[in-house]
Amino acid sequence: SWTTGNVIEEQVAAIREQVGDKRAICGLSGGVDSAVAAALVQKAIGSQLTCVYVDHGLMRKGETEQVEKDFVAATGVQLKVVDAEERFLKALAGVSDPEEKRKIIGREFIRVFEQAQAEIIADAGPAVEFLVQGTLYPDVVESGGGTGTANIKSHHNVGGLPEDLEFKLIEPLRKLFKDEVRMVGQGLGLPEEIVQRQPFPGPGLGIRIVGEVTKERLDLLREADAIAREELTAAGLDRDIWQCPVVLLADVRSVGVQGDGRTYGPPIVLRPVSSEDAMTADWSRLPYDVLAKISTRITNEVRDVNRVVLDVTSKPPGTIEWE
Ligand code: XMP
Repeated sequence: SWTTGNVIEEQVAAIREQVGDKRAICGLSGGVDSAVAAALVQKAIGSQLTCVYVDHGLMRKGETEQVEKDFVAATGVQLKVVDAEERFLKALAGVSDPEEKRKIIGREFIRVFEQAQAEIIADAGPAVEFLVQGTLYPDVVESGGGTGTANIKSHHNVGGLPEDLEFKLIEPLRKLFKDEVRMVGQGLGLPEEIVQRQPFPGPGLGIRIVGEVTKERLDLLREADAIAREELTAAGLDRDIWQCPVVLLADVRSVGVQGDGRTYGPPIVLRPVSSEDAMTADWSRLPYDVLAKISTRITNEVRDVNRVVLDVTSKPPGTIEWE
Protein backbone atom coordinates (compact mmCIF):
# COMPACT_ATOMS: atom_id res chain seq x y z
CA SER A 1 0.00 0.00 0.00
CA TRP A 2 1.06 3.57 -0.64
CA THR A 3 2.62 5.26 2.35
CA THR A 4 5.27 7.96 2.34
CA GLY A 5 7.39 5.66 4.48
CA ASN A 6 7.31 2.95 1.81
CA VAL A 7 8.05 5.36 -1.01
CA ILE A 8 11.04 6.77 0.85
CA GLU A 9 12.39 3.33 1.75
CA GLU A 10 12.02 2.00 -1.79
CA GLN A 11 13.61 5.03 -3.39
CA VAL A 12 16.51 5.12 -0.96
CA ALA A 13 17.33 1.48 -1.71
CA ALA A 14 17.01 1.99 -5.47
CA ILE A 15 19.19 5.11 -5.47
CA ARG A 16 21.90 3.39 -3.40
CA GLU A 17 22.03 0.56 -5.84
CA GLN A 18 22.04 2.84 -8.88
CA VAL A 19 24.78 5.18 -7.68
CA GLY A 20 27.10 2.69 -5.98
CA ASP A 21 30.26 4.52 -4.95
CA LYS A 22 30.02 7.25 -7.60
CA ARG A 23 28.96 10.86 -7.05
CA ALA A 24 25.87 12.82 -8.02
CA ILE A 25 25.00 16.47 -8.57
CA CYS A 26 21.65 18.18 -8.04
CA GLY A 27 20.57 21.71 -8.85
CA LEU A 28 18.34 23.33 -6.25
CA SER A 29 15.89 26.00 -7.38
CA GLY A 30 14.19 26.73 -4.08
CA GLY A 31 11.12 24.89 -5.35
CA VAL A 32 9.41 21.82 -3.93
CA ASP A 33 10.44 19.25 -6.53
CA SER A 34 14.19 19.76 -6.57
CA ALA A 35 14.21 20.04 -2.77
CA VAL A 36 12.40 16.74 -2.22
CA ALA A 37 14.44 14.95 -4.90
CA ALA A 38 17.67 16.20 -3.33
CA ALA A 39 16.56 15.24 0.17
CA LEU A 40 15.74 11.71 -0.98
CA VAL A 41 19.09 11.27 -2.70
CA GLN A 42 20.89 12.78 0.28
CA LYS A 43 19.20 10.25 2.55
CA ALA A 44 20.41 7.47 0.24
CA ILE A 45 23.99 8.47 -0.52
CA GLY A 46 24.90 11.29 1.89
CA SER A 47 28.10 13.11 1.00
CA GLN A 48 28.31 11.47 -2.42
CA LEU A 49 25.73 14.09 -3.39
CA THR A 50 26.58 17.74 -3.95
CA CYS A 51 23.80 20.26 -4.50
CA VAL A 52 24.26 23.48 -6.42
CA TYR A 53 22.20 26.58 -5.80
CA VAL A 54 22.62 29.49 -8.16
CA ASP A 55 21.61 32.72 -6.43
CA HIS A 56 20.65 34.91 -9.37
CA GLY A 57 19.52 37.74 -7.12
CA LEU A 58 15.96 37.43 -8.45
CA MET A 59 14.51 35.45 -5.57
CA ARG A 60 11.94 36.71 -3.13
CA LYS A 61 12.78 37.85 0.38
CA GLY A 62 14.13 35.04 2.55
CA GLU A 63 14.10 32.35 -0.15
CA THR A 64 17.84 32.01 -0.60
CA GLU A 65 18.29 31.81 3.17
CA GLN A 66 15.62 29.10 3.26
CA VAL A 67 17.76 26.97 0.97
CA GLU A 68 21.14 27.90 2.47
CA LYS A 69 20.12 27.53 6.10
CA ASP A 70 16.83 25.69 6.66
CA PHE A 71 17.17 23.13 3.89
CA VAL A 72 20.78 22.36 4.78
CA ALA A 73 19.89 22.13 8.48
CA ALA A 74 17.02 19.74 7.76
CA THR A 75 18.95 17.45 5.41
CA GLY A 76 22.65 17.86 6.15
CA VAL A 77 23.21 18.13 2.43
CA GLN A 78 26.51 19.28 0.96
CA LEU A 79 25.65 22.54 -0.79
CA LYS A 80 27.57 24.78 -3.14
CA VAL A 81 26.01 28.23 -3.34
CA VAL A 82 27.04 30.49 -6.19
CA ASP A 83 26.36 34.16 -5.59
CA ALA A 84 25.78 35.38 -9.14
CA GLU A 85 23.61 38.43 -8.45
CA GLU A 86 26.04 40.93 -9.95
CA ARG A 87 26.54 38.84 -13.02
CA PHE A 88 22.80 38.58 -13.66
CA LEU A 89 22.20 42.28 -13.02
CA LYS A 90 24.95 43.18 -15.43
CA ALA A 91 23.56 40.89 -18.11
CA LEU A 92 20.08 42.33 -17.61
CA ALA A 93 21.13 45.99 -17.61
CA GLY A 94 19.19 48.05 -20.12
CA VAL A 95 16.87 45.18 -21.10
CA SER A 96 13.09 45.63 -20.88
CA ASP A 97 11.73 43.11 -23.37
CA PRO A 98 10.20 40.11 -21.54
CA GLU A 99 11.45 37.42 -23.94
CA GLU A 100 14.89 38.99 -24.03
CA LYS A 101 14.99 38.95 -20.21
CA ARG A 102 13.92 35.30 -20.09
CA LYS A 103 16.61 34.34 -22.60
CA ILE A 104 19.34 36.17 -20.74
CA ILE A 105 18.37 34.70 -17.38
CA GLY A 106 18.19 31.18 -18.84
CA ARG A 107 21.53 31.53 -20.59
CA GLU A 108 23.36 32.95 -17.59
CA PHE A 109 21.84 30.29 -15.37
CA ILE A 110 23.23 27.49 -17.52
CA ARG A 111 26.66 29.12 -17.65
CA VAL A 112 26.89 29.57 -13.91
CA PHE A 113 25.56 26.07 -13.21
CA GLU A 114 28.02 24.49 -15.63
CA GLN A 115 30.89 26.36 -14.05
CA ALA A 116 29.91 25.08 -10.60
CA GLN A 117 29.50 21.61 -12.01
CA ALA A 118 32.99 21.70 -13.53
CA GLU A 119 34.44 22.71 -10.16
CA ILE A 120 32.71 19.83 -8.42
CA ILE A 121 33.89 17.36 -11.05
CA ALA A 122 37.42 18.71 -10.64
CA ASP A 123 37.36 18.04 -6.87
CA ALA A 124 39.14 14.93 -5.75
CA GLY A 125 36.76 12.01 -5.28
CA PRO A 126 34.87 9.35 -7.20
CA ALA A 127 33.58 10.13 -10.69
CA VAL A 128 30.48 12.30 -10.94
CA GLU A 129 28.17 10.18 -13.04
CA PHE A 130 24.68 11.20 -11.98
CA LEU A 131 22.43 14.21 -12.21
CA VAL A 132 19.38 14.39 -9.94
CA GLN A 133 16.19 15.84 -11.38
CA GLY A 134 12.84 16.52 -9.74
CA THR A 135 10.80 15.19 -12.65
CA LEU A 136 7.21 14.41 -11.62
CA TYR A 137 4.76 11.93 -13.13
CA PRO A 138 2.82 14.62 -15.06
CA ASP A 139 6.14 15.77 -16.63
CA VAL A 140 6.92 12.20 -17.69
CA VAL A 141 3.52 11.79 -19.31
CA GLU A 142 3.70 15.17 -21.05
CA SER A 143 7.08 14.47 -22.60
CA GLY A 144 5.95 11.03 -23.75
CA GLY A 145 8.00 8.62 -21.68
CA GLY A 146 11.32 10.19 -20.85
CA THR A 147 14.86 8.99 -21.46
CA GLY A 148 17.36 8.29 -18.71
CA THR A 149 20.30 10.42 -19.77
CA ALA A 150 20.77 14.15 -20.13
CA ASN A 151 23.00 15.95 -22.52
CA ILE A 152 24.33 18.98 -20.79
CA LYS A 153 25.79 20.87 -23.70
CA SER A 154 28.67 23.03 -22.74
CA HIS A 155 28.37 25.36 -25.70
CA HIS A 156 30.12 28.12 -23.83
CA ASN A 157 33.10 25.98 -23.06
CA VAL A 158 33.49 26.72 -19.39
CA GLY A 159 36.13 25.47 -17.03
CA GLY A 160 37.49 22.70 -19.24
CA LEU A 161 34.24 20.76 -19.43
CA PRO A 162 34.09 18.25 -22.25
CA GLU A 163 32.11 19.42 -25.29
CA ASP A 164 29.25 17.15 -24.48
CA LEU A 165 28.86 15.83 -20.99
CA GLU A 166 26.62 12.91 -20.42
CA PHE A 167 25.05 12.17 -17.07
CA LYS A 168 22.83 9.37 -16.02
CA LEU A 169 19.66 10.70 -14.47
CA ILE A 170 18.29 10.00 -11.03
CA GLU A 171 14.60 10.88 -10.99
CA PRO A 172 13.16 9.67 -7.69
CA LEU A 173 9.83 11.50 -8.14
CA ARG A 174 8.96 10.06 -11.56
CA LYS A 175 5.96 8.14 -10.24
CA LEU A 176 4.58 10.85 -8.00
CA PHE A 177 2.03 13.63 -8.26
CA LYS A 178 2.60 17.01 -6.67
CA ASP A 179 0.59 16.35 -3.51
CA GLU A 180 2.48 13.08 -3.01
CA VAL A 181 5.79 14.90 -3.45
CA ARG A 182 4.74 17.30 -0.70
CA MET A 183 3.89 14.36 1.58
CA VAL A 184 7.25 12.72 0.92
CA GLY A 185 8.96 16.04 1.64
CA GLN A 186 7.10 16.23 4.91
CA GLY A 187 8.10 12.65 5.70
CA LEU A 188 11.72 13.62 5.11
CA GLY A 189 11.41 16.45 7.63
CA LEU A 190 11.72 19.35 5.20
CA PRO A 191 10.62 22.80 6.41
CA GLU A 192 6.94 23.64 5.86
CA GLU A 193 7.86 26.79 3.86
CA ILE A 194 9.62 24.65 1.28
CA VAL A 195 7.16 21.75 1.15
CA GLN A 196 4.08 23.99 0.80
CA ARG A 197 5.65 26.56 -1.50
CA GLN A 198 3.47 27.85 -4.29
CA PRO A 199 4.69 27.89 -7.90
CA PHE A 200 7.35 30.49 -8.64
CA PRO A 201 8.85 31.06 -12.10
CA GLY A 202 12.49 30.16 -12.77
CA PRO A 203 13.31 33.69 -13.98
CA GLY A 204 12.00 34.90 -10.62
CA LEU A 205 11.31 38.56 -9.97
CA GLY A 206 13.10 39.37 -13.23
CA ILE A 207 9.80 38.85 -15.05
CA ARG A 208 7.73 40.59 -12.36
CA ILE A 209 9.35 43.95 -12.97
CA VAL A 210 7.74 45.39 -16.05
CA GLY A 211 10.67 47.37 -17.41
CA GLU A 212 14.39 47.18 -16.76
CA VAL A 213 15.55 45.04 -13.85
CA THR A 214 17.75 46.89 -11.36
CA LYS A 215 18.89 46.12 -7.83
CA GLU A 216 16.85 49.01 -6.46
CA ARG A 217 13.66 47.85 -8.17
CA LEU A 218 14.23 44.28 -7.04
CA ASP A 219 14.61 45.39 -3.44
CA LEU A 220 11.41 47.41 -3.66
CA LEU A 221 9.46 44.53 -5.19
CA ARG A 222 10.87 42.09 -2.61
CA GLU A 223 9.46 44.28 0.17
CA ALA A 224 6.03 44.55 -1.41
CA ASP A 225 5.92 40.83 -2.20
CA ALA A 226 6.93 39.90 1.35
CA ILE A 227 4.09 41.98 2.75
CA ALA A 228 1.52 40.43 0.42
CA ARG A 229 2.70 36.90 1.25
CA GLU A 230 2.72 37.64 4.97
CA GLU A 231 -0.85 38.94 4.95
CA LEU A 232 -2.17 36.13 2.74
CA THR A 233 -0.61 33.61 5.11
CA ALA A 234 -1.94 35.42 8.17
CA ALA A 235 -5.45 35.32 6.63
CA GLY A 236 -5.08 31.58 6.02
CA LEU A 237 -5.51 31.99 2.28
CA ASP A 238 -2.33 30.24 1.06
CA ARG A 239 -4.11 27.01 0.28
CA ASP A 240 -7.11 28.66 -1.40
CA ILE A 241 -5.16 30.55 -3.98
CA TRP A 242 -2.85 28.98 -6.55
CA GLN A 243 -0.33 31.81 -6.33
CA CYS A 244 -0.23 35.56 -6.13
CA PRO A 245 2.36 37.25 -8.30
CA VAL A 246 3.20 40.74 -7.09
CA VAL A 247 4.29 42.91 -10.00
CA LEU A 248 6.13 46.23 -10.19
CA LEU A 249 5.18 48.50 -13.09
CA ALA A 250 8.55 50.15 -12.95
CA ASP A 251 8.13 52.67 -15.76
CA VAL A 252 4.68 53.86 -14.76
CA ARG A 253 4.35 56.56 -12.14
CA SER A 254 1.40 58.12 -10.47
CA VAL A 255 0.91 61.00 -8.09
CA GLY A 256 0.24 60.39 -4.44
CA VAL A 257 0.00 62.28 -1.22
CA GLN A 258 1.95 60.65 1.58
CA GLY A 259 3.19 61.96 4.89
CA ASP A 260 3.79 65.63 4.41
CA GLY A 261 3.87 65.88 0.69
CA ARG A 262 3.38 64.86 -2.88
CA THR A 263 4.97 61.63 -4.11
CA TYR A 264 5.40 60.30 -7.61
CA GLY A 265 6.11 56.59 -7.80
CA PRO A 266 5.42 53.25 -9.50
CA PRO A 267 2.32 51.13 -8.79
CA ILE A 268 2.33 47.60 -7.41
CA VAL A 269 -0.05 45.07 -8.98
CA LEU A 270 -1.53 42.15 -7.02
CA ARG A 271 -2.34 39.15 -9.21
CA PRO A 272 -4.00 36.50 -6.99
CA VAL A 273 -5.29 33.56 -9.02
CA SER A 274 -7.02 30.28 -8.44
CA SER A 275 -6.24 27.40 -10.76
CA GLU A 276 -5.99 23.63 -11.06
CA ASP A 277 -2.95 23.38 -13.32
CA ALA A 278 -1.95 26.92 -14.39
CA MET A 279 -3.24 26.28 -17.92
CA THR A 280 -6.32 28.29 -17.11
CA ALA A 281 -6.93 30.46 -14.09
CA ASP A 282 -9.47 32.77 -12.56
CA TRP A 283 -8.70 35.86 -10.50
CA SER A 284 -9.25 35.12 -6.82
CA ARG A 285 -12.03 36.95 -5.07
CA LEU A 286 -9.96 37.84 -2.03
CA PRO A 287 -11.76 39.35 0.95
CA TYR A 288 -11.73 43.16 0.81
CA ASP A 289 -10.31 43.47 4.30
CA VAL A 290 -7.28 41.37 3.33
CA LEU A 291 -6.73 43.47 0.21
CA ALA A 292 -7.07 46.62 2.28
CA LYS A 293 -4.49 45.42 4.78
CA ILE A 294 -2.01 44.56 2.03
CA SER A 295 -2.56 47.88 0.28
CA THR A 296 -2.18 49.92 3.45
CA ARG A 297 0.97 48.13 4.49
CA ILE A 298 2.63 48.33 1.08
CA THR A 299 1.98 52.06 0.70
CA ASN A 300 3.10 52.71 4.28
CA GLU A 301 6.17 50.50 4.30
CA VAL A 302 7.54 50.48 0.77
CA ARG A 303 9.28 53.67 -0.24
CA ASP A 304 7.98 55.44 -3.35
CA VAL A 305 4.91 53.25 -3.76
CA ASN A 306 1.71 55.25 -3.44
CA ARG A 307 -0.70 52.98 -5.28
CA VAL A 308 -1.66 49.26 -5.17
CA VAL A 309 -3.92 47.86 -7.90
CA LEU A 310 -5.70 44.52 -8.31
CA ASP A 311 -5.57 42.46 -11.50
CA VAL A 312 -9.09 41.14 -12.20
CA THR A 313 -8.34 39.23 -15.40
CA SER A 314 -8.78 35.50 -15.88
CA LYS A 315 -6.45 33.29 -17.95
CA PRO A 316 -7.13 33.36 -20.84
CA PRO A 317 -6.85 36.09 -21.92
CA GLY A 318 -4.26 37.23 -19.40
CA THR A 319 -1.39 34.90 -18.48
CA ILE A 320 -0.74 34.46 -14.77
CA GLU A 321 2.58 36.29 -14.92
CA TRP A 322 2.74 39.70 -16.57
CA GLU A 323 5.75 38.80 -18.70
P1 XMP B 1 1.70 31.92 -17.21
O1 XMP B 1 2.26 33.30 -16.93
O2 XMP B 1 2.21 31.36 -18.51
O3 XMP B 1 2.27 30.99 -16.05
O4 XMP B 1 0.21 31.87 -17.13
C1 XMP B 1 1.81 29.66 -15.83
C2 XMP B 1 2.56 29.12 -14.62
O5 XMP B 1 3.94 28.91 -14.92
C3 XMP B 1 4.75 29.69 -14.08
N1 XMP B 1 5.84 30.20 -14.90
C4 XMP B 1 7.07 29.67 -14.95
N2 XMP B 1 7.61 28.63 -14.25
N3 XMP B 1 9.66 28.97 -15.39
C5 XMP B 1 8.91 28.30 -14.47
O6 XMP B 1 9.43 27.40 -13.84
C6 XMP B 1 9.18 30.00 -16.13
O7 XMP B 1 9.89 30.58 -16.95
C7 XMP B 1 7.81 30.36 -15.88
N4 XMP B 1 7.01 31.31 -16.42
C8 XMP B 1 5.80 31.18 -15.80
C9 XMP B 1 3.85 30.79 -13.53
O8 XMP B 1 4.32 31.27 -12.27
C10 XMP B 1 2.54 30.04 -13.43
O9 XMP B 1 2.50 29.24 -12.25
